[in-house]
Amino acid sequence: MFKHSQLESVKAWLVHPAHAAMPLHTRIQRAIRQLIVDGALGPGKQLPASRALAGSLEVSRDTIETAYAQLHAEGFIDRRVGSGSFVAEMKEFTSGRRLMQRDTLRDQTPNLSKRGDAMFRSGGVREMLTPRPFAHGVPDTRSFPLLLWERLERQVLKEAGSQALLHGDPQGAEPLRRAIADYVNLERGAHATADRVVVLTSSQQAMTLCAHVLFDPGDRIFIEDPVYYGARKAFDAAGLDCVPVPVDHQGIMAERITADPHKAKAVFLTPSHQFPTGATLELDRRLALIEWAARHQAWIIEDDYDSEFHYAGRPTACVQGLDPHDRTIYIGTFTKALFPGLRIGYVVLPPHLVKPVTIARTLLDGHTASIAQLTLARFMEAGHFGAHVRTMRGIYAKRLEVLTALVREHLADFVEPQTPVGGLQMPCMLTGGLSESTAIAAAQRVGIELLGLSALYAGDDGRAGFLMGFAAYTPHEIERAVKKLAHALHAVRTA
Ligand SMILES: Cc1ncc(COP(=O)(O)O)c(C=O)c1O
Repeated sequence: MFKHSQLESVKAWLVHPAHAAMPLHTRIQRAIRQLIVDGALGPGKQLPASRALAGSLEVSRDTIETAYAQLHAEGFIDRRVGSGSFVAEMKEFTSGRRLMQRDTLRDQTPNLSKRGDAMFRSGGVREMLTPRPFAHGVPDTRSFPLLLWERLERQVLKEAGSQALLHGDPQGAEPLRRAIADYVNLERGAHATADRVVVLTSSQQAMTLCAHVLFDPGDRIFIEDPVYYGARKAFDAAGLDCVPVPVDHQGIMAERITADPHKAKAVFLTPSHQFPTGATLELDRRLALIEWAARHQAWIIEDDYDSEFHYAGRPTACVQGLDPHDRTIYIGTFTKALFPGLRIGYVVLPPHLVKPVTIARTLLDGHTASIAQLTLARFMEAGHFGAHVRTMRGIYAKRLEVLTALVREHLADFVEPQTPVGGLQMPCMLTGGLSESTAIAAAQRVGIELLGLSALYAGDDGRAGFLMGFAAYTPHEIERAVKKLAHALHAVRTA
């Protein structure tokens, strides 16, 4: 006989949408097999009579007979005439549950390399699949011109035909590399040509590639403090010795780097809009770092992740365009400017790094998906990219204004908002009353996501606060969520 929970688990299999395409008897057979594999039905355990199970599951007896026959054919059950069906004794088989017991006795961690273990322990960079207010760094995908994109994709498929289905250039489709070079030269003041661009799947991939292609484990690199967690994880996982350098309102304190007597291989920067503080790196500091990199043959890794969205005048030009010594690696992404599911990012490299990086990427993923690259190239060539960014800049500026006003009105007892000059999120510093973890946990309980700031600092003395993403949420959604947050924070304070 089945216990209630076993019967429920078979029923859950039957109705699960992922199993909808399977015939009924297959679903029942798989569900019972899973119970056996998991150890929920041990060897010798009797299965319900087919008539009884048919009644409980409201299916025909034939369906159960077919499922049992298949389980028997696979060796999972024995059928004894006159006495029924029993889970088989399988000598070579260790059930999932027994395996788990053995594992938990030993250690839960699988047998990984040191590098694999470091990656696993870092928890990786997992973005929210369905962003809730105020998840940071998420653009508004609801305003994306999907019909236009679809039309361009159809054009690509019509013109390229089956050619678009073959492998593509690992460096990236040439029309897209050209469009990216034109864009970064014009809008970001970069020095780029199509042959110096490598199209990747993301800036995250760019950071991981840099970490592995340019450095050895133990190499020192300077990073911003606080720092973007995705960069830190990529560098830590590669075994680099990350040296945090404080950030003030003018960006990373470059004099700490230029005065450091120890050798370092690189500095990682988000100079246009420091993550998470929002500071813009001051010009003298940029120039000092360029000179430092040239003198020490070190690299500047410049992550220019959201500079398209600058709300007060034009954003400062990128560091790469100021660097006459070719020591800067410029990283860009379409995650914020278009949509995260696109998975297209890129690097603009010094010429002699193009081949090593391109070859290294072939070991990871070969190349970025060709149809998406060609569609994006068209989107950019026809001016739609510029138009979309302009439209979204207006929408996001308004949302930032709304968020700032609402935070001042409803959350003034808890935080001081630091209105940023650009980007998709606003830092808010806690002003007293509540600890960062209490505030974040209270928000989470009411369906609100806040990214804590203190964990992004290297030491324990980071400033308490959180990031509030605003770009993906309408003014009405922002208002509702701010009020909900205010209510939740007041409630924990008085509890
Ligand atoms: C500073 C910074 N760099 C890079 C990224 C990620 O971009 P991608 O999706 O291209 O990896 C983010 C996303 O939040 C970010 O905040």
